[in-house]
Amino acid sequence: MDVLSIPTILTLTALAVTLVTCVFKLVFIGLGNKGKYHPVAGTAIDHLLNFDRLHDYMTEQANKYKTYRILNLFKSEVYTSDPANVEYILKTNFPNYGKGWYHYGKLNDLLGDGIFTVDGEKWRNQRKISSYEFSTKNLRDFSSAVFRTSAVKLAQKVSEAVTSNQATEIQDLFTKSTLETVFKILLGVDLDTTSEEGMLFSSSFDEANAVTLYRYVDVFWKVKRFLNYGLEANMKKCIKVVDEFVYKIIRNKMEQMSKLRDDSRAMKKSDILSRFLEMNETDPKYLKDIILSFIIAGKDTTASTLSWFFYMMCKYPLLQQKIAEEVREATGINQNSSIDELSNSITDDALDKMQCLHAALTETLRLYPAIPVDGKCCLSDDTFPDGFRVRKGSAVAYQPWAMGRMESLWGDDAEDFRPERWSDENGCFRQESPFKFTAFQAGPRICLGKEFAYRQMKIFSAVLLATFRFKLSDEQRTVKYRTMLTLHIDGGLHVNASYR
Ligand code: HEM
Repeated sequence: MDVLSIPTILTLTALAVTLVTCVFKLVFIGLGNKGKYHPVAGTAIDHLLNFDRLHDYMTEQANKYKTYRILNLFKSEVYTSDPANVEYILKTNFPNYGKGWYHYGKLNDLLGDGIFTVDGEKWRNQRKISSYEFSTKNLRDFSSAVFRTSAVKLAQKVSEAVTSNQATEIQDLFTKSTLETVFKILLGVDLDTTSEEGMLFSSSFDEANAVTLYRYVDVFWKVKRFLNYGLEANMKKCIKVVDEFVYKIIRNKMEQMSKLRDDSRAMKKSDILSRFLEMNETDPKYLKDIILSFIIAGKDTTASTLSWFFYMMCKYPLLQQKIAEEVREATGINQNSSIDELSNSITDDALDKMQCLHAALTETLRLYPAIPVDGKCCLSDDTFPDGFRVRKGSAVAYQPWAMGRMESLWGDDAEDFRPERWSDENGCFRQESPFKFTAFQAGPRICLGKEFAYRQMKIFSAVLLATFRFKLSDEQRTVKYRTMLTLHIDGGLHVNASYR
């Protein structure tokens, strides 16, 4: 009876219908429009069957075809790793490649009308206000101070593990720490991720995030949502927890602000929510949507990159040593300096001098991009620079993971971790085209927090690497990825630290 449970029947039906539809489309499009569309590399079923190793599977396809189609029940999915096509989608014909109904429909339950999910005027407004806020000196100084304080806290946690001779699951530490910093900078609130409320928010947000991704491979998610069944039922509960938590913070902040409004001595607040409220933006739903998009943007991306980076540091101890020395030289600290002194000496000037650290973080993002595949929707019939046509309604995606590993783009050593590929002859960091190194996207929708993320990752890494030496713990036998909307290390990263 178990074998014929409802999810099994739904999945088998979905597979059968998808297969028949795909064969039909393959024959129809193949015969009717020969040579005009990108080659078909498989069907949505292949993605479902390879879900656990999706990015490796997609890299194999990308090595066969720079741009290819995957047939799905209702539409084609076009995947490209060709920088010319990427530039065309992200910049040249930007208005034709938005989130569209396809992505909006899947992301909206969790992220509402936040900057990640919308196009057109709604996107432009949020982008304009947020870009301005992100470029102010006020936010820069405030966020650097928050990063330095958090880095010290992180170092204290690692220090406790050293004292008790325990391994540290460092991905978990990074995830909690980036969530706390994002809360402080966005909302001006001290979130305690170890409190019951903090843990519930964090786990509910992660769960909702994971189910959102699963919607991309589960053709029956809408039916399940309608029936309030399985993962979708769970997601609904998680979203309720997340929403209520953020609404409560917004309400408190509004009350605080209205009390302070009449007080001319009140300090100007630096967090993003206060800045939106000061601009008389008071619709709680709109504010909640903006905030959740920023939380999803800033939390897991940075935490996952830091985790992969520390994995690389453990694999390459000589490089780890070199970066620790670079940090000591850039900050001018000595062997007897305390962690607080070290953290306080990480000024903007010192960060600029950490070129090797910058290159190593970038090389990490080339091989382990936090967003390994990034999708758009084609809004009207079009032709790519490679001469192939794309239909209105097709899902179109570029692939940072596959692109980062292609020999045609990076040379024979594409699979190797070599930060020096980012350095010029003077050892200074050398930019690459954002249409080839696509970890932060490119064009008008390029990641708004790129500088912010580098600053945070450099401050965290500088404090930890100048203080401790890291190696993989014995329990960390293999490292596998797990994708939610962002890329994680499955089961976390267990490391042993010792003082330098
Ligand atoms: C290593 C860290 C990060 C990586 C790799 C990264 C990467 C990306 C990527 C690929 C996108 C495009 C997503 C899409 O298609 O909508 C994006 C968008 C965005 N990122 Fe980041 N991000 C990082 C950190 C951050 C941080 C720390 C923030 C801010 C707190 C941030 C804010 C944003 C925002 C607001 C957008 C939406 C931009 C728009 O649609 O106009 N990101 N990021």
